[in-house]
Amino acid sequence: MWRPCLRSVSIGLSIGLFCAMLPIPFQMLLAAVFCFIGRGNIPIAIAACWVSNPISQIPLMLFQERVGAKIRDILDMDWLNFIDIERIIPYFDKSVNLANFAVGVASTALLLGLIAYPIVFCFYALVPKKYLHTTDLTKDKNYQKVSISTMRKIPVEVFGKKQAAASKLADETAELIRFNDSIGKSTVLGLATGETPLEYYKALIQLHQTDGLSFQNVVTFNLDEYIGLDSKHPESYWHFMHINLFHHIDIKPENINLPSGVVSDAEISAYCEQYEEDIKEAGGIDLQILGIGRNGHIGFNEPGSPRDSLTRVIELNATTREDAAETFGGIEKVPTAAITMGCGTILSARRMVLMAWGKDKASIVNKAVTGTTSDIISASYLQDHPNASFYLDTQAASELDQVI
Ligand code: GLP
Repeated sequence: MWRPCLRSVSIGLSIGLFCAMLPIPFQMLLAAVFCFIGRGNIPIAIAACWVSNPISQIPLMLFQERVGAKIRDILDMDWLNFIDIERIIPYFDKSVNLANFAVGVASTALLLGLIAYPIVFCFYALVPKKYLHTTDLTKDKNYQKVSISTMRKIPVEVFGKKQAAASKLADETAELIRFNDSIGKSTVLGLATGETPLEYYKALIQLHQTDGLSFQNVVTFNLDEYIGLDSKHPESYWHFMHINLFHHIDIKPENINLPSGVVSDAEISAYCEQYEEDIKEAGGIDLQILGIGRNGHIGFNEPGSPRDSLTRVIELNATTREDAAETFGGIEKVPTAAITMGCGTILSARRMVLMAWGKDKASIVNKAVTGTTSDIISASYLQDHPNASFYLDTQAASELDQVI
């Protein structure tokens, strides 16, 4: 009921305001015709048109008298004189001054504003719905969320493709290495394994091969290793890092640090302490690269890992083992424990970037970035780090800011 009435009012107002220079009977006729086409109420439209007329005349006159006079003077447009100002507004003071000019401009703006709404309304009222398409931007694969949300507690950068994110991070790494080289300091990188950092390693190799980036002064510390796998095992992280990075760059073998998965039970505790010492002796980690497990772990810091935990052996969570089952060729072949840097070790890095790609990571990324910090999701500890960022592709960012 209210919709046809509103439509009629808007049609009447539009005609009255927009066609203010036409004789009033003409305006009313136009209002009636448009209202007929738009299936509105013709008397209401005519009334609205009539009511709008005096409203439209005042700003129009001001415009004609002040701004129009100026324009006429400049352009010699005599034909603009077709409105008899003195008859319509006899009390109008013709002296041109700045205040009148400002009123003219402001009233013209007001007039245009008044016109805009009814016109838009008329457009939607008159054009059949089948010609009005609305687009859901979120279904567009190239759409990127650019809104900054107060729910995010960690800086997030979203990239259309993971390669773009990896390349940005590789450039950042190269800049760091070159700067440290220039001041005679070595660069300490904390490295991660898994599918996620593969593009980043490719980008680093590319920079080495085509851009002359040298890793001679780079020292690396890897996050973790499966217990029971030696360096020759194809699923060991030692093997992964050499195949995917170290064999292709000029890093010195003695600068590569990977936790060993085959230290005896009697020695493991001292071994873990030594790993911590080695990081400190190297000057601490400048840049820590991270992925995220589906349960929110960083390294192998499974749910329940304290914020100040250090390098240690940890039992692997069921989700983690399930996720690794495919590459191992069955869950029964996935080791049940790992050695990992602790959350405290990781958080002591001066800069850290966590990368995540794909829909499977969207939910846990949202929880880590916008949820409360807790040991259930060790990646949430990054919220407390002064220089941590998440680099995400569009899919991994797709659930950001959803209320948890
Ligand atoms: C393992 C690694 C993590 C890695 C995670 C995610 O658990 N220990 O460091 O972040 O896998 O792996 P992907 O990048 O393959 O999803």
